[in-house]
Amino acid sequence: MLNDNLNNSPEIQNDYIKLIAEIMEIRKRGEVPLAYIRTYGCQQNVADSEKIKGMLSMCGYEFTDNPNNADFILFNTCAVREHAEDRVFGNVGALKSLKRKHPSVLIALCGCMMEQEHVANKIYKSFPFVGLVFGTHCMHIFPQLLYKSLVDGKRVFERDNDDLLVHEGIPVRRDGSFKGWLPIMYGCDNFCTYCIVPYVRGRERSRESSVILQEAKNMIDAGYKDITLLGQNVNSYGKGLEEKITFAELLKKIDDIEGDYLLRFMTSHPKDCTKELIDTMASGKHISKHLHLPFQSGSDRILKLMNRRYNVEKYLSIIDYAKSKIPDVSLTSDIIVGFPGETYEDFKQTLELIRKVEFTSLFTFIYSPRVGTPAAKMDDPIPYEEKSKWFSELLAVQEEIAAKRCAAMVGTTQRILIEGETGKDGMLAGRTSGNIVVELPGDKNTIGTFQNAEITEARNWILRGKLL
Ligand code: 5AD
Ligand code: SF4
Repeated sequence: MLNDNLNNSPEIQNDYIKLIAEIMEIRKRGEVPLAYIRTYGCQQNVADSEKIKGMLSMCGYEFTDNPNNADFILFNTCAVREHAEDRVFGNVGALKSLKRKHPSVLIALCGCMMEQEHVANKIYKSFPFVGLVFGTHCMHIFPQLLYKSLVDGKRVFERDNDDLLVHEGIPVRRDGSFKGWLPIMYGCDNFCTYCIVPYVRGRERSRESSVILQEAKNMIDAGYKDITLLGQNVNSYGKGLEEKITFAELLKKIDDIEGDYLLRFMTSHPKDCTKELIDTMASGKHISKHLHLPFQSGSDRILKLMNRRYNVEKYLSIIDYAKSKIPDVSLTSDIIVGFPGETYEDFKQTLELIRKVEFTSLFTFIYSPRVGTPAAKMDDPIPYEEKSKWFSELLAVQEEIAAKRCAAMVGTTQRILIEGETGKDGMLAGRTSGNIVVELPGDKNTIGTFQNAEITEARNWILRGKLL
């Protein structure tokens, strides 16, 4: 629960925004205050940072890439693996000398790590120069928390584990002008045994479809060409809403909006992935032919221990259906290597599955124990070095598959969204509907537009092409 003095109302938060703008006006004597925001982790965090930037913008802040120039420094943190947490601790530690040089800078931390009590306590004790800490559930009261920090000068630490609400009306300042994220739901109810997300992002809750549709329309009108719908498990969209609506129905409604754009979504959970969704993808006008469907492990025994609630047979049946309905479908997945109790035999079944499916690309992770999750208490006899060997084996197999898949695309024509320059002279980079990167020579005026290109060469998982 929020402190008694903290207020959920968007109007009150707007009042705090105005008060902060006034304070900054006086303190900076007309000079613009600068904020430095660093985001770790997944797209949901990127989308959250875009909201924080929206609120800061309304307070009068502009943004800098250099923390040394900033009046406000914020790290939006990720808790999904230990490595991500270690990086945050390392980078926060490095701010100590900056704070000494610029005592007036306010250093803040937010995001998933801050929803864990032991982490917030560690920050409180070990990093006294951090002035503001707030968890994922406190994002909507950020103006009030910032105001408190600026005015009281005391350290503000706020976490709220019980939030079951969706807070609308927060301003968004998107990083990209033609590629954007659109959250459709928050939290997760799945409790995969290795995963910290349900504990730090709370219960699953969907946004009203009318609000999502309006935001999608606004983005399309503003020239967004590549819109990704975000949720931890988009396939269970609609659960708990008064209105009866499935994810496939929502996707179809957005797809019906007129315009030249590509619609993506992530992440799909195999247990909730329906034929209806795949049929909608197949018949969609704007929906990308890319399905990111994490299977995590190719062993039924490990899937059970992970509490994933599907087996390999069910997973493959979805894949077969997708391949039959969308012949050029691009499939990607997340995989965890070295889950507690996994044997080399289990791992070999993961290799077998990736050979069968032939994914375009994979996001692969070595299991990382997370405090408070059931898997962290399971017996984990395989040493990390051994897991690393399995991991390398997995990468080698996938490299072979990706190279084969990319080679099969040589000679085809693809519609590509040109995203930017590669850094090499005159070379641009874009993405196919299946989310594969294509490098090609061209004019930088085409950045942010769709172009047809012929694929001329495959270099492992990157394609080369020429504009038609
Ligand atoms: N260890 C390793 N990988 C993890 N993931 C989630 N939790 C863990 C963990 N404890 C991976 C899963 C998930 C992706 C976002 O991160 O593969 O799909
Ligand atoms: Fe974590 Fe599983 Fe939820 Fe994904 S579906 S966020 S892996 S608990």
